[in-house]
Amino acid sequence: MTEKFEKDEISGTQTTGHEWDGIKELDTPMPRWWLWTMYATIIWSIGYWIVMPAWPLVSSYTAGMIGYSSRASLENVMSEAAAAHATDRAALVTTELSEIQSDQQTYQYALRGGKSAFAVNCSQCHGSGAQGAPGFPNLNDDEWLWGGSVDSIYETIKYGIRSDHDDTRLGDMPAFLDDELLEPAQINDVAEYVLSLSQQPDLDAEAVTRGKEVFAAECASCHGENAKGLREFGAPNLTDAIWFYGGDKETIVRTISKGRANVMPAWVDRLDDATIRQLTLYVHSLGGGE
Ligand code: HEC
Ligand code: HEC
Repeated sequence: MTEKFEKDEISGTQTTGHEWDGIKELDTPMPRWWLWTMYATIIWSIGYWIVMPAWPLVSSYTAGMIGYSSRASLENVMSEAAAAHATDRAALVTTELSEIQSDQQTYQYALRGGKSAFAVNCSQCHGSGAQGAPGFPNLNDDEWLWGGSVDSIYETIKYGIRSDHDDTRLGDMPAFLDDELLEPAQINDVAEYVLSLSQQPDLDAEAVTRGKEVFAAECASCHGENAKGLREFGAPNLTDAIWFYGGDKETIVRTISKGRANVMPAWVDRLDDATIRQLTLYVHSLGGGE
């Protein structure tokens, strides 16, 4: 190799010929390890282009020799997961609801699935802990409008309440003022009577007595003679202090005057049977199951 530029005297290294104010630049070679690492990464990347999907083309891409695709790999993981669930889901739909509770494997599987399906589909209305809100029942307590056995809960979830499904549960609380079934004074009396059923203070005793007669004539057919509710109409128990819409006088007068008819959607066309069964067992397990 011919030496175009002079060598630096002290280090013995070739200079590049660049010089500023008497300071000359040395042409120190790249360290060997650095060079070899760079060559290795170049070789690696060429190998990678050949083996793996790499370069975009006009409407597709170079697929690579082993044909890897992240979409296919996701599909594999999903179908493996589905296969892992298949036995449990099959057991869920083929076992009688009331018997699943004694099969720990299927039952625990149902509770886990029911919990997450509840968070996705039900918590908007019933609350994340199923605690409910005015007009949306609490599903943790012992009070049931339509029944708290697994079979009743299953039917409620499947077909809904006043939903658009043909098999929905039906039963309305009439609007006694709007439909001119009662006078305002009678509504006041019967509201006082309803308050007396749950031992609320400061009531007008005469109104309560009059209200009792109104109740027997107008309300007992749905709420029962003893006002403990009738599930065939979804009419709530009025004697416990658990309220669905509210137990203050104003709310009760509003309920009687304008009626109530809240809607619970039907799920049979939106969720598969295994999921509805998971939800049934989950709701049943919340504390009020019968
Ligand atoms: C759009 C709001 C809404 C959604 C979503 C909803 N519910 Fe309901 N649910 C209601 C209402 C309102 C009622 C009470 C209906 C009535 O007035 O009788 C109810 C009643 C119920 C009852 C009957 C309670 C009783 O006392 O008998 C059960 C059980 C129930 N829901 C479970 C569920 C489950 C499980 C889901 C999710 C799959 C769900 N709900 C989703 C609004 C909803
Ligand atoms: C045709 C049946 C029917 C009759 C008659 C009826 N109710 Fe109801 N009542 C219901 C139903 C069903 C509900 C629940 C409404 C709902 O789920 O949205 C209800 C709800 C109520 C509530 C709400 C309770 C709560 O927890 O918030 C009160 C209060 C009530 N009724 C009082 C009366 C009184 C008083 C009368 C008589 C003047 C009466 N009802 C007559 C069916 C009836």
